[in-house]
Amino acid sequence: NEIYLHGLEGRVPPFTTDLTALGASARDHLDSGAFGYVAGAAGSGATHRANREAFDRRRLIPRMLSDATERDLRTTVLGAALPTPVLLAPVGVQSIVHPDGELATARAAASLGLPMVLSTASSYTLEQVAEANGEGPRWFQLYWPNDDEVCASILGRARAAGYTTLVVTLDTWTLAWRPQDLDQSYLPFIRGVGTAIPFSDPAFRAGLAKPPEEDLDAAVLRWVPMFTGTDRSWDRLPFLREHWDGPIVLKGIQHPDDARRAVDAGVDGIVVSNHGGRQVDGALASLDALPPVVEAVGARTEVLFDSGIRTGADVLKALALGARAVLVGRPFAYGLAHAGEDGLRHVLRSLLADLDLTLALSGHRSPSELTPDDLWHR
Ligand code: FNR
Repeated sequence: NEIYLHGLEGRVPPFTTDLTALGASARDHLDSGAFGYVAGAAGSGATHRANREAFDRRRLIPRMLSDATERDLRTTVLGAALPTPVLLAPVGVQSIVHPDGELATARAAASLGLPMVLSTASSYTLEQVAEANGEGPRWFQLYWPNDDEVCASILGRARAAGYTTLVVTLDTWTLAWRPQDLDQSYLPFIRGVGTAIPFSDPAFRAGLAKPPEEDLDAAVLRWVPMFTGTDRSWDRLPFLREHWDGPIVLKGIQHPDDARRAVDAGVDGIVVSNHGGRQVDGALASLDALPPVVEAVGARTEVLFDSGIRTGADVLKALALGARAVLVGRPFAYGLAHAGEDGLRHVLRSLLADLDLTLALSGHRSPSELTPDDLWHR
């Protein structure tokens, strides 16, 4: 309604409301390295494309005369009440996209009451982002360092700064083969992280002769091996539990056996995700991974979903297949690239309005009404 009313005054939205088209127009707002990093994927891009194709293979079956005049998009996720089943995925180094980076994201998310998940690879410190986020709901995403002291220090800071839920990303213990970045020798982490997490962390800084600003090379050389490698294992999860008294969610689960293992290990939720096709080229589409995982653990834990969400219909399809809520990645980064905080808000509000309308026209009053029977599958 707002958009049409503005139209009467000759005003149009700041940029497209078609979130599937945002990537193409974001190219004009980003240098080629940053664009390649955000839009890029692992290898040939097969999994990135598969993420979208999997949505296309499933279609909603709309119901008629079912009175969906009044809708309620509210839900609870891990015990917290949310206005809609949509969260902002952790996206690192956002200052390569816009100078305000995560601060703009924190403000836009708070203004809509949507949880943002702050990446360990943030361009601003977690305290700065918490301040920008104010009373907004915020979660913290951990790239799990192999130095326990640094890990405990980061977790303690995140708890103190009001991050409620810990999302531990498992699929990125080293960066994938990403031709867009390799071809441009583009190192987003060095360009975007600057002095932020973990460089700002006292335990990390204590391991350096000079502060990271004075000796960035030394900081990077210490940082890279600390955040890569396979020495974190299932039996190390109790360490995280010891240092985090809120819900813990594992992100990057795709195999039902890993989902079972996660639940057996006592975590509170999982995110079915293939990192937006950015890690294992040739991996299955995230939406195809969802039903087997829901079947394996859906009764015992909360299953969240990401990778490929671009429209309201996509959100509904993931929820129909058993996801409790979804996370959105690239679209909001593109909104940030277009117009900072306002651009990001435009993207999120467009997605939520599309979700609400599509829910209504599909004949449902709440996303929780949808089941796999509401989908047609090619
Ligand atoms: C990511 N993602 C990500 N995930 C994470 O756990 N920590 C991180 O720091 C990042 N950084 C990051 C940067 C960029 C530029 C992108 C595009 C993605 C992955 C992200 O959380 C999410 O899994 C995907 O973005 C979801 O796929 P879509 O929505 O981008 O298709």
